[in-house]
Amino acid sequence: MGQVFAAPKSADSMLDAVPFKVTNPQRIPAERYYDPAFFELERERLWPRVWQMACRLEEIPEVGDWVEYKILDQSVIVVRTAGGVKAFHNACRHRGVKLANGHGNCEVQGFNCPFHGWRWNIDGENTFVFARQVFDEENLDPAELNLVPCRVELWGGCAFINFDDDAPPLLETIQPLADRLDPRKVEKLRVEWWHSAILPTNWKLAMEAFMEGYHVMRTHPQLQEANPPLPGYDRYAPTPAGGPAPLPASVTVKKLIEMSINWNAVLSEGMAGMVHANDVAIMNDLKDRIELPDDPMAAMGVWHQALNAEITQQNRARGVDFPDLNDLPYASAVQFLFPHYFMLPLFGNMSAYRIRPLGPETCLFEIWSLVLYPEDEVRERPVAPTPMRHDDERFPPIPQQDYSNLPLQQEGLHAKGFEYMRLSKTVEGMISNYQRVIDGFLGGVDDDRLAKGIQVASGELDDPIKDIGF
Ligand code: FES
Ligand SMILES: [Fe+2]
Repeated sequence: MGQVFAAPKSADSMLDAVPFKVTNPQRIPAERYYDPAFFELERERLWPRVWQMACRLEEIPEVGDWVEYKILDQSVIVVRTAGGVKAFHNACRHRGVKLANGHGNCEVQGFNCPFHGWRWNIDGENTFVFARQVFDEENLDPAELNLVPCRVELWGGCAFINFDDDAPPLLETIQPLADRLDPRKVEKLRVEWWHSAILPTNWKLAMEAFMEGYHVMRTHPQLQEANPPLPGYDRYAPTPAGGPAPLPASVTVKKLIEMSINWNAVLSEGMAGMVHANDVAIMNDLKDRIELPDDPMAAMGVWHQALNAEITQQNRARGVDFPDLNDLPYASAVQFLFPHYFMLPLFGNMSAYRIRPLGPETCLFEIWSLVLYPEDEVRERPVAPTPMRHDDERFPPIPQQDYSNLPLQQEGLHAKGFEYMRLSKTVEGMISNYQRVIDGFLGGVDDDRLAKGIQVASGELDDPIKDIGF
């Protein structure tokens, strides 16, 4: 069992008293991934105070559409009303029965309690109490009978909820990430497919498998082998004195382009998305038509520019509201939004992940493939999938490879000989950054400093360890 958390008086001493606190940013204590008391502290002090991606707005396309969002023992109903998206705590105001499970539409029926039949309309206003005369008037105050609202704000095609009425607004905590992603029209992405798995690991461990590219070499050998021999594809290759070796004469520009296309094809297949099969088809078509300079580096520059233009033009011709890929600000292929949402943009597509704790050593991991579709294409309302086993073969190969390490890692963390993870300060910093922000929540750091810390923690693939401000 873990230490008992005694809340001291001043804010900083409280931070110091967080059990298993990250005291050296390059070292993450193992107990944070299994200690029940630490998990309870997260339940009490982290989850009630953070903006959480509760649903995609396309899950509630019509007025009256609602979905349930669950986090630990809390359940919230997110509903589209004529006046916008609202959220309510999911409990009958009579004797607490949960009102809504899964998803549905309440425009006509409202929400009906199955126990004694009390009812609410789409705006959460109580519309019916059976046999009102049997209640004392003070128990029928209309304001008290309405469903209790929960904060909800929108960004990037998603509804985010927060149980903390004093937390800074969503948009204050998601910069500069939103600036990197807004030009990609993230709010217009639609679900191509959606899978989920129950993983036998702590939720943080599952997230950390996606925060660095350092594991690609061993975990995804097919990607590593497909790397073209160019700077940028293998950033972990040692640079010899005097700079990178010249390309062998056998690696012609034509060969390089083929290798680059193959790398994208391997990624496309491995993720069943991110790079869409259609993007790979455009690459294959373009390579036979394009004139390129002889110098390999110059050729790759011309190639990328032309490819971006071609993908942009072909998508616009199909009626997609598509960003100009040559105009986008740089955003690496993994973008993390504290505390539990990832976006992986490439060309006009994205994979996305959301990870929720179920217990100290188990979590729910969801993956979406998101695509920009033609404006007039009708997409079905996506519905949360039934979770699969983490080793289910229906998962695309790359997430399967990532998942395969996790149960072993969760087991290894318990070993008496293992005290802490040792992180690279240059490429595994995202793990350290967000873990220290969690300590800020557990240790009572004020909202302003937490908001700034969240901005730093909501980083990109291979981020270094950064100053989070406390
Ligand atoms: S518990 Fe809901 S109506 Fe009684
Ligand atoms: Fe991976």
